[in-house]
Amino acid sequence: MYVDQDVDVTQEQDRIEDLLQQGQVASEALVVTKLTKYFSTLCAVDRLTLGVHKKECFGLLGINGAGKTTTFRMLTGDLMLTDGNAYIGEYSLRQDLKSFQEHIGYCPQFDALIDKLTGREMLYLFARLRGIPETQIGHTVQEIIEMIDLQHHAEKRTDKYSGGNRRKLSLALALIGNPAVVFLDEPTSGIDPIARRKIWTALETIRASSGMAVVLTTHSMEECEALCSRLAIMVNGQFRCLGGIQYLKSKFGQGSTLIVKLERDKALDNNVVSNLQEFVQKEFPGSVLKDIHQGMLHYHITDNSIPLSHIFSIMEDARQKLHLEDYLVSDTTLEQIFLTFAKSQRITAESNFV
Ligand SMILES: Nc1ncnc2c1ncn2[C@@H]1O[C@H](COP(=O)(O)OP(=O)(O)O)[C@@H](O)[C@H]1O
Ligand SMILES: [Mg+2]
Repeated sequence: MYVDQDVDVTQEQDRIEDLLQQGQVASEALVVTKLTKYFSTLCAVDRLTLGVHKKECFGLLGINGAGKTTTFRMLTGDLMLTDGNAYIGEYSLRQDLKSFQEHIGYCPQFDALIDKLTGREMLYLFARLRGIPETQIGHTVQEIIEMIDLQHHAEKRTDKYSGGNRRKLSLALALIGNPAVVFLDEPTSGIDPIARRKIWTALETIRASSGMAVVLTTHSMEECEALCSRLAIMVNGQFRCLGGIQYLKSKFGQGSTLIVKLERDKALDNNVVSNLQEFVQKEFPGSVLKDIHQGMLHYHITDNSIPLSHIFSIMEDARQKLHLEDYLVSDTTLEQIFLTFAKSQRITAESNFV
C-alpha cells in the first residue's frame, strides 16, 4: 500500500492503530489518523498519522506546497477533511468539532487580525472567547504581552503593526488561555533574530508550565532544533521521516563536513593546495571536494564511521605541515537531511518560492 515508506513512519501508524483499537487516544495530547485532503484531483495531504505526546513540541517540516498549512487548517476545523480523523482526549474532530476547537490554539500562516482593534483589545476578546474568568483577564493579557514583547505596541491598532508585530500578536492569541494543543504555522517568519529568541524562550516557558503540546511548522532549522523534540519531514502530503532530531541525524546523516582555510600567503600556492588534497584523500578516503575558492577548501567526508574527534585530531596534528590558518569540522546538519527529502517535492507555484 505505502511504497517505500520509511519504517519509523510505519511504526507510528501501527502505534496509533493500537491506541485507537485499545481506546487509549487520551494518552496522547493529539492523535491524527489517516488525515487526507484532496483539492479536486490534487492530494495535498495523504493519510497522515501521528500522535503528539503531552507537553511535546512537534515540528512539521516541508518546503512550500508540501501540505503543512492544509494539515493545520483541517485540524483546526477551518477546512473539511476528505478522510481520516483526529482526537484530543475524548473529543473527535469529526463528531465533536466545537469541543475539539475549545482545546486548541491556532496561529495561522497568514495573520487574521481585526484592523480596528488594538493588540490589547484583541487579546481581551480572545481571553473572553476562551472563557478566562473576568477577574483574571487583565492579568493574563498583561502577562502574555510582556512574554511576547509587545509592551510598546499593545495600545496601537493592529493595522499600524509591522509584519513582525502582527506575527507576535497572532502567536499570543494562539497561546492565551493555555489550550491543550497549539498549532503554530511559521510563527516567527519575518521576526528579527533577537525577538525570535525571546519568543522561543516564552514558548518554552509557557509549554513547560502549562503542559500544552505544540505542533509547529518552520523554515528555520535552528528554530526546529531549539524547540522540537520530534519532527517529521513532509513531502507531497506524506511523512518521509519521523523521529527525534539526533535520531534522524544518525539515521540519515551522510558523513561530515570539513572546511579548511590555508594561510593567506599560501592560498594560491599550487604545491600547498595539492599537498592538502593528497593528505585529505589519504586520511579520509572517498572524500569529495565540493568547493575550492581562494585557499578555502570545502570537503564532504562521506565515510559515516569516522568520528568527528578523529577528524579533529588528524587536522590539528597536520595544521603546521599543511599551512592551515584554520579549519572547521561539523556533523551532518538538519538542513542537509531536509534538502535530501525536499528534492522529491512536486513542483508547484509555491515551491518555487522557498
Ligand atoms: N484552497 C486550495 N485549493 C486548491 N489547492 C490548494 C488549496 N490550498 C492549498 N492547495 C494546494 O495544496 C498543496 C499544499 O499546500 P499547503 O498546505 O499550503 O502547503 P504548505 O503549507 O506546506 O506550503 C499545494 O499544492 C497547494 O497549491
Ligand atoms: Mg503553509
